[in-house]
Amino acid sequence: MPSDFPICVIDSGAGGLSVLKKIRQLLPNEELIYMADSYFSPYGSKSKRVIKNRCFENMGFVELQHAKALVLACNTATAAAVKELREAFDIPIIGMEPAIKPAADLTRTGVIGVLATEGTVDSDKYLDLESLYRDRVKIITKACPGLVDEIEQIDLDRGEIIKLVTEYTEAFLDKGGDTLVLGCTHYALITDIIAEIVGKEVVVVDTGMAVAKELKRRLYALELNSDSKREGRVSFFTSGNVEDQKIILSRYWGEEIEVLHYLNFLLTV
Ligand code: DGL
Repeated sequence: MPSDFPICVIDSGAGGLSVLKKIRQLLPNEELIYMADSYFSPYGSKSKRVIKNRCFENMGFVELQHAKALVLACNTATAAAVKELREAFDIPIIGMEPAIKPAADLTRTGVIGVLATEGTVDSDKYLDLESLYRDRVKIITKACPGLVDEIEQIDLDRGEIIKLVTEYTEAFLDKGGDTLVLGCTHYALITDIIAEIVGKEVVVVDTGMAVAKELKRRLYALELNSDSKREGRVSFFTSGNVEDQKIILSRYWGEEIEVLHYLNFLLTV
């Protein structure tokens, strides 16, 4: 596989941009292709079977892009499908995992919180991870229905986001939690709002940089890292409404970007 082939980064919507930013920072010469599977969003309230099937469908896009690696920038999709995807495809597939381990190392009160989607918190993968730390720390896990939808609004309703985050962090704060894990890539897009609500005493952790580092490690180990001296391109695709996604993805990416419908790409191959 040529090392100048692109890396695909996929999420149900804008959430994976929180990971893409870290990848861009760490690997500026790589060609990056982001796919917001907005037509199918949100993933978090759908069954494991449905999400797994969708992830396999999306591999058609990844293969047609000749991607040399895939970052599944979605905790819900990782919990539902990463194992089967790795068994079925040869390219390196990097997934997300809520940062319980770093949080367990950081906490001073011994109480940590995890915010994630219903799909993630109900998954065997998450329950297995949690069980590894249950003896060491108290873990307050909270599913956050509706939060991804609010983050994906064209007109952001900050008041509604504050209301939901306040509700979802209440038990964690009441029990003396001091370290909060963002177990959904969408939540990392509103870290400033979450940090303001939980206060300065609470450390908020997410997995974006750890995933970028793991991607870098895998690429170098497989000699798949780009040796280009030029800055790599970043292209954006969506399975949803292109105009809407242009507004939403530009907001979180921090500059105006072009977004193509992913079928445009499939039809031109
Ligand atoms: N961003 C995703 C995650 O990390 C999923 C959000 C959703 O579509 O529910 O879990």
